Amino acid sequence: MDAALFQKQFDDLVQEAEKALRSLTPSATTTPVRLHEAMRYSLDAGGKRLRPVLCLAAAKAFRADADARHAATAIECIHSYSLIHDDLPCMDNSDLRRGRPSCHKAFDEATALLAGDALIPLAFKLLTQGYSDHPTLVQELVGELAEAAGSTLLVGGQAEDMNTSDKKNQSEKLEFILRGKTAAMLSVSLTLGARIGGASAKEIEHFRLAGQQAGIAFQLVDDLLDAHGTTASLGKPVGADKDNDKLTFANLYGIEATRARIKQLTDEAVGNLRACEANTDFLCALITQMASRKS
Ligand code: IPE
Ligand code: IPE
Ligand code: MG
Ligand code: MG
Ligand code: MG
Repeated sequence: MDAALFQKQFDDLVQEAEKALRSLTPSATTTPVRLHEAMRYSLDAGGKRLRPVLCLAAAKAFRADADARHAATAIECIHSYSLIHDDLPCMDNSDLRRGRPSCHKAFDEATALLAGDALIPLAFKLLTQGYSDHPTLVQELVGELAEAAGSTLLVGGQAEDMNTSDKKNQSEKLEFILRGKTAAMLSVSLTLGARIGGASAKEIEHFRLAGQQAGIAFQLVDDLLDAHGTTASLGKPVGADKDNDKLTFANLYGIEATRARIKQLTDEAVGNLRACEANTDFLCALITQMASRKS
């Protein structure tokens, strides 16, 4: 895909995602004000918005005028909550996020905990409100997001990621962590979008697999950047995984094997997207670019 066209589509989708995020979530003046200020602080902090962009683009791949804004916003709410909690002293104990003090530093621990909590039901409310004319779709979207964010995937992956003292079955444990804490939310970004766009069951499965593969690659890149990137470009501390004794692919198998796995997973993800009837050029280009990101 032409680089300029890709960039224009990406920028447009980020703008669409940010506009939806601003308009579909409570303002900072909502009571209780401090809680809503903390929610807004983290939502507005300016992440890369990859998950909402994947969701919006997945829907458009099947139907150009598909409107996945509520699902995209719901996914960014869950992602933002996971980052707020991930940074808490009881978890990764990280004081910097998206180039600014982490939520618990800008506010306080209790407020950060509660801001994260509040973003979870908000996500599900957005799904029920956004697609209320299509009850079966709502049921599917809610079920899938609950599964991805739940105790066997996102939260389960985070739980195992915290369990650093257990050095048994490292490679199996690592696969579980990667699938859960990161790949599940990237995968559900694609599948919710695909469902909203009207994809077939077979296409949804291709999108699910593509999301899992690209999602695992995404965390492998995150881990490489933690070891070799800079705080200035990442907007978060580097060297944190080593300090926290985290289990990462690079630590277990080395940098070269990690790079090779990133490439293999990215190729597989592109293959899954290409297997669909949909127009997946933009998504393939995005997933390819995510593999060589520097921030
Ligand atoms: C950070 O995700 C957490 C991981 C799963 C590695 P992102 O790198 O997408 O964070 P933001 O949203 O751009 O800040
Ligand atoms: C993050 O993994 C996964 C989630 C937040 C669910 P990391 O702990 O590596 O993410 P960063 O590096 O703090 O963004
Ligand atoms: Mg973590
Ligand atoms: Mg962390
Ligand atoms: Mg990390």
